[in-house]
Amino acid sequence: MMKMNMLAAFCLATGLTAALAQSGSAPAPSGRTLQNCNAVSAETCALAHALGRGINMGNMLEAPREGDWGVRLDAPYIDKVAGVFNTVRVPVRWSNHAAPTVDATLDEVFAVRVDKVVDALLAKGVYVILDMHHNSQLFGERLLPNEFGVDPAVVEPRVVNMWRQIALRYKDRSPKLVFELLNEPHGRLDGEPWNVLAGRTLAAVRTSNPARTVLVGPSYWNSARDLPKLRLPPDRNLIVAIHNYDPFEFTHQGVTYLPKPFPTGTTCCNATQLKTMTNSLDAAVKWSQANGFPLHLGEFGAYQAADMDSRETYTRLMRDEAERRSIGWTYWDFASSYGAYSPKTGNWVEPIRRALLD
Ligand code: BGC
Repeated sequence: MMKMNMLAAFCLATGLTAALAQSGSAPAPSGRTLQNCNAVSAETCALAHALGRGINMGNMLEAPREGDWGVRLDAPYIDKVAGVFNTVRVPVRWSNHAAPTVDATLDEVFAVRVDKVVDALLAKGVYVILDMHHNSQLFGERLLPNEFGVDPAVVEPRVVNMWRQIALRYKDRSPKLVFELLNEPHGRLDGEPWNVLAGRTLAAVRTSNPARTVLVGPSYWNSARDLPKLRLPPDRNLIVAIHNYDPFEFTHQGVTYLPKPFPTGTTCCNATQLKTMTNSLDAAVKWSQANGFPLHLGEFGAYQAADMDSRETYTRLMRDEAERRSIGWTYWDFASSYGAYSPKTGNWVEPIRRALLD
């Protein structure tokens, strides 16, 4: 499935054959330039490339309660995704499963549920990106049904304390487990507030996991637009996550949770639309080259209201454009309304699956 030759050459050149043996695959086919890794360790650089092709298990553990959004992270799904992808990103709404007080003691029943998912995926040999996803108060938003509120004074310290516990819990897991500090920081966290919180959160992770690879992304929903605002601590095991939903009026047409929904009927992808997709990727690559941190495209995808031919074209283009730049990716997502798989029919949504993998 994945082409091995370029990473093999890279590993020989850098003495990383052990990392290659562990990684198993690479997203950088022959002739493509590998990412700039001047600021990170050889292991994290190899890992950024080895993340390869992946998928998000969206709408499952980041719903206020698992099942609230119609899908659960059932065991057969683990077999399905691990059979075809290198990486599985697991979004988790930790904030709704921890004490409302500043200590944010994790709900052990929920944490054990996450352990099971993480361990089952690791046992299959895939990379796992375990993230902290959604926390309405943290972004200054209204609570969702079944989401509880806390004293505003403890919102940010809870994030730090949750990560301290999560990191400790998984400190002995394989290096194939990667932490992601926060999905799509935005709203009241845009810019400097996120830099401050990310620094404190990373420090909490580093007390138990001095060298684990950690993903951290810019504010404004992990948009490449905010990369110039991102200030990273001098840490040699970071990968920078970006999300790309351009052209937004195509990918998010008909989405009802937006304040002002886009009308349906927009197709994809003409030259102008393609340019909006690649402009963001190129801006990210430029930033990465100047700063030395490798990139990961953590989310892209098109909502089900778009026509299927356009979704297939868009998905294949974004995959190809990321891979042309040696950027590993995780598609949004497996089984929600953007999904590559239909829980209703029990089959892959074939145009999306083949656009991702064939
Ligand atoms: C959010 C999802 C949303 C997707 C596309 C993700 O980061 O968690 O709820 O559907 O982005 O907008």
